[in-house]
Amino acid sequence: MSKTLITGGCGFVGSNLIRQIVEQGRAERIVVLDNETMGSPRDLPDAGLDYHKGDICDLDAVSRAVAGCDTIIHLAANTRVIESIEDPTLNFEVNVRGTFNVLLAARDAGVRRVVMASTGGAILGDVEPPVHEGMVPQPAAPYGASKLAAEGYGSAFAASYGMQVTALRFSNVYGPRSYRKGSAVAHFFKQVLDGNPITVYGDGSQVRDFVFVADLCRGILQAIDANVSGAFQLGSGQPTSINELLVEMKRVVGANRWSEVHFADWRAGEVRQTYCDITKARQAFDFDPATPLEKGLEATWQWFLQQTASTPT
Ligand SMILES: NC(=O)c1ccc[n+]([C@@H]2O[C@H](COP(=O)([O-])OP(=O)(O)OC[C@H]3O[C@@H](n4cnc5c(N)ncnc54)[C@H](O)[C@@H]3O)[C@@H](O)[C@H]2O)c1
Repeated sequence: MSKTLITGGCGFVGSNLIRQIVEQGRAERIVVLDNETMGSPRDLPDAGLDYHKGDICDLDAVSRAVAGCDTIIHLAANTRVIESIEDPTLNFEVNVRGTFNVLLAARDAGVRRVVMASTGGAILGDVEPPVHEGMVPQPAAPYGASKLAAEGYGSAFAASYGMQVTALRFSNVYGPRSYRKGSAVAHFFKQVLDGNPITVYGDGSQVRDFVFVADLCRGILQAIDANVSGAFQLGSGQPTSINELLVEMKRVVGANRWSEVHFADWRAGEVRQTYCDITKARQAFDFDPATPLEKGLEATWQWFLQQTASTPT
């Protein structure tokens, strides 16, 4: 039976992906490797997973987890752009050294393919959107640089050792199970729930591409099933400014519960405008991020409300 290792499987994308794999009744057995810094096995479905607590910076731990697997979905990472500016060394260790370990362990265990989570906007920097796979990368923060280095090693391992490596460049993912995330949608909803004001860095005109996590996870599985290699943008393909996002979120939450919005100085290293062109993924594996922003925000808000309702006081 096919066996897939998911690194970072306890995190936001990983826990949604594993649920989708279980719900789709897919045949592969799932192994999870996670160091539990940003995720917990409590967020995983009770579905007979083979769980390893361990760090991707520890080659032995990766090698033990990967034994017998034919596919790796590599999601574990240090994911915060602003923190990567404050501590580029940690970001390098986890995202570059850690990914290198995953590739080494994969090569030595005879793993057929590695699908790694990468990023669109952060790799390409401040360029005229829509961003696409043909653009020259110019990362604006260490996080983007680390993902670019990881993609580089992926490409080299594919060419040197005959492995199939796919880099899926996610845009801004939002959705249920994002309660540990500091990204815009999760952070703003948490501020509303706690009755705190929302701080927007800059004037809110910055543009992002918000993709609903269920659409993204379907895309990851479609890419695996289609056996594609190389780099692919996975986003909604739609530009949304932070100000537009706030209007939609306020509508979903209701004006009576909505928080005050404050505007603060722009942050260094933040890309002003990014959204992606998803033509390549559409053509290669029918990627179809069909969930409209308002529906995705509604599902996310309902999930956050349920969490608060079920949290013991
Ligand atoms: N969420 C987004 O909007 C977004 C956008 C672009 C790219 N990505 C990429 O997608 C992937 C998944 O993102 P996410 O939002 O689920 O992040 P997340 O932080 O929710 O999950 C990452 C998981 O990896 C684990 N982890 C972190 N460091 C580890 C290490 N050294 N060893 C083992 N496990 C470790 C964490 O405990 C966590 O469970 C990441 O590679 C991220 O860079 C995410």
